[in-house]
Amino acid sequence: MTEKILTKRFEIPGYRGTLDEYEATGGYQAIAKALKEHTPAGLIDLVRRSGLRGRGGAGFPTGVKWGFIPKDPELPKYLVCNADESEPGTFKDRELIMRDPHQLIEGIMLASFAIGCRIAFIYIRGEFVAGARILEQAVTEAAARGLVGKNILGSGFSLDLHVHRGAGAYICGEETALLESLEGKRGLPRLKPPFPATSGLYRKPTVVNNVETLSNIPHIVMRGAEWFSSIGTPKSTGTRIFGVSGHVRRPGIYECPIDVPMRELIFEHAGGMREGRRLKAVIPGGSSVPVLTEQFLDTRMDFESLATAGSMAGSGGVIVMDETTCMVRVGQIVSRFYHHESCGQCTQCREGTAWLHKTLRRIEEGRGRQADLDLLLDICDNMKGKTICPLSDAAAMPIESYLKYFRDEFEQHVVERGCPFGSTHRS
Ligand SMILES: Cc1cc2nc3c(=O)[nH]c(=O)nc-3n(C[C@H](O)[C@H](O)[C@H](O)COP(=O)(O)O)c2cc1C
Ligand code: SF4
Repeated sequence: MTEKILTKRFEIPGYRGTLDEYEATGGYQAIAKALKEHTPAGLIDLVRRSGLRGRGGAGFPTGVKWGFIPKDPELPKYLVCNADESEPGTFKDRELIMRDPHQLIEGIMLASFAIGCRIAFIYIRGEFVAGARILEQAVTEAAARGLVGKNILGSGFSLDLHVHRGAGAYICGEETALLESLEGKRGLPRLKPPFPATSGLYRKPTVVNNVETLSNIPHIVMRGAEWFSSIGTPKSTGTRIFGVSGHVRRPGIYECPIDVPMRELIFEHAGGMREGRRLKAVIPGGSSVPVLTEQFLDTRMDFESLATAGSMAGSGGVIVMDETTCMVRVGQIVSRFYHHESCGQCTQCREGTAWLHKTLRRIEEGRGRQADLDLLLDICDNMKGKTICPLSDAAAMPIESYLKYFRDEFEQHVVERGCPFGSTHRS
């Protein structure tokens, strides 16, 4: 069994993530060390050398992102922790928040010190009511001990940290929509450039990082860049918390080296297929990424290996489906989600998601036509690479992949005028 890093404390019997428990297990030593031993530029360099890449979906190198922030000390800068976690199939940030909130807070403190930020925010998904309360309590506890606020540990570094609750929109996980929402406006993605590093919250330089990304920072500070980069591959370093759901015996979160083979993740950690059934399809990185089939089971889960296989590492949400699954129905459900969550600014996304769902629903209900299969591909083609944010691509790419691997199933629905799997649901 490989060493756990981010979820190590989850295994301590009775650990509830209080400040006392966190400190008793080595917590808040990284911020003390960084304030004594590192300059902000040195800390950015350490994170860059660790090779850490963002765990929110895009996999952008964290140290490089921090390095884009202007150095001008007069300029206000913000750090925003993205705790919106709304990607279907993804449920690892929630665990980090609920079970070790101070690990995240320490990561936020370190990132803020590195980029010269004095006011940081945690933007948390509105439905995570318990998680928001735990974070608010943890921030209050840290402030009472002088770990958040003015002149932290007598170093002269000060940081205010605010927990802000979202109102239940998937699009507010997209970083610029999140910033709009944090400013009190409707969560509509902004056109990029300018990127948040130069024009983010209140048009000031801003770093947006995912919960899991930031939770890694204390460990990198304590154990070094070389240690971190020795885990995984040269381009994908460290561990990843995979959330495995669907037709497996033991759904749950599993922290593994980022390059764990898919077969090991599903058949060893998650216990294999439920009721001994055959694996049919795996969505390896949340609902936005292309599906893979049994033939890819020996693919590793790092960014490059999954890209080579024709999919993406995305948010680390691994959805496993067995032979009883109707892929047309999967497409119908996934497209319904994106149709509902499209913010409507771009025609290709607003109309495309509606058409995808409408067409998939009629195929599923046995009212489809042979021409609908190519119509779906045509709609997808028109949705990609043309919009303000990547939601449109995220809605199109999975459907293309379902047709690539399971076209015969779509055709069967048309020919037999109904679902061969006996799917009776209507939505
Ligand atoms: C539609 C959409 C939804 C997203 N939702 C999330 C989310 O819930 N959490 C998250 O961390 N990143 C999400 N992202 C990615 C963010 O835009 C951003 O890349 C990320 O927060 C950056 O952090 P990282 O560099 O640490 O990964 C989403 C992106 C898109 C396009
Ligand atoms: S791609 Fe979709 S979600 Fe993104 S800005 Fe355009 S309409 Fe909104």
